[in-house]
Amino acid sequence: MLTQADVHWIELDSVDSTNDYLSRAYQQGRVSGCAVVLTQAQTAGRGRAGRSWKAVPGASLCFSLGLPVAGYQLPFLPLCVGLAVAEVLERFEVPVQLKWPNDLIVGGQKLGGVLCESFHTGSGATTVIGVGLNVHPVDVPQALSGAGASCLVQWVDASILPSLRELAEACVLSILHQVEAARAQGISALFKQFALRDAWLGLEVVVLEEGKALFSGRAMGIDENGAYLISTSNGLRSVIAGDLSLRVA
Ligand code: ATP
Ligand code: BTN
Repeated sequence: MLTQADVHWIELDSVDSTNDYLSRAYQQGRVSGCAVVLTQAQTAGRGRAGRSWKAVPGASLCFSLGLPVAGYQLPFLPLCVGLAVAEVLERFEVPVQLKWPNDLIVGGQKLGGVLCESFHTGSGATTVIGVGLNVHPVDVPQALSGAGASCLVQWVDASILPSLRELAEACVLSILHQVEAARAQGISALFKQFALRDAWLGLEVVVLEEGKALFSGRAMGIDENGAYLISTSNGLRSVIAGDLSLRVA
């Protein structure tokens, strides 16, 4: 099992994207094994499908953790990572929910997101896990953010919040534990933990592909394969993470 002691930390003042920086570092052989890049500012942060991720310099948590493991060996990684980060934030009594497949939600608004990417280098397979979390307020246009963005200081007294480095360390440790637990205990324990924090459950939703509505129905939770189930007028349909998104109807 990997522990904090196995993790090589890189701290930067500013970078385009911690996922991109770490991917380049692995591909160019500048890092190997388990590494974290933590930055104070990100100029080209990315979400899923190339969408942009906004961060406020010094006031947003932006880090990426690289593991020397192929993505297929880490099933349901975004759920696992979301759960790991949620467990850290629950220590501060932040009532975090998870929005399948990769968002952290609080009070119905987006608090953070997870971006997992896998690739091969000369020395083997690597998976990079990016985590973005709003600590202080961030201005995300309503049109882009849907229900809007939240941040930790709306829920926790700023005086008890740890530094970005301490927060990142707690998240990394929790992610390493969750990944190990998912491997050791199997995915059904992970799915049960996810279900307790499922932000979609019971809502009327629309399933979108590249922004276009495909069908709508009631969100029923994830199945034993990690797909999201939607109850429609034509019966139960499952949605697989990828190019599909859910939105409140
Ligand atoms: P999906 O449900 O498909 O994941 P999404 O809208 O959550 O869709 P993502 O790619 O997961 O999209 O996240 C990127 C989106 O998050 C951006 O398009 C923008 O709307 C929003 N966003 C960007 N920066 C922030 C931020 N700091 N806080 C909250 N929301 C943000
Ligand atoms: C999402 O909601 O789609 C995921 C957002 C992930 C943002 C983080 S910030 C650190 C890392 N670097 C990036 O460019 N993206 C992730």
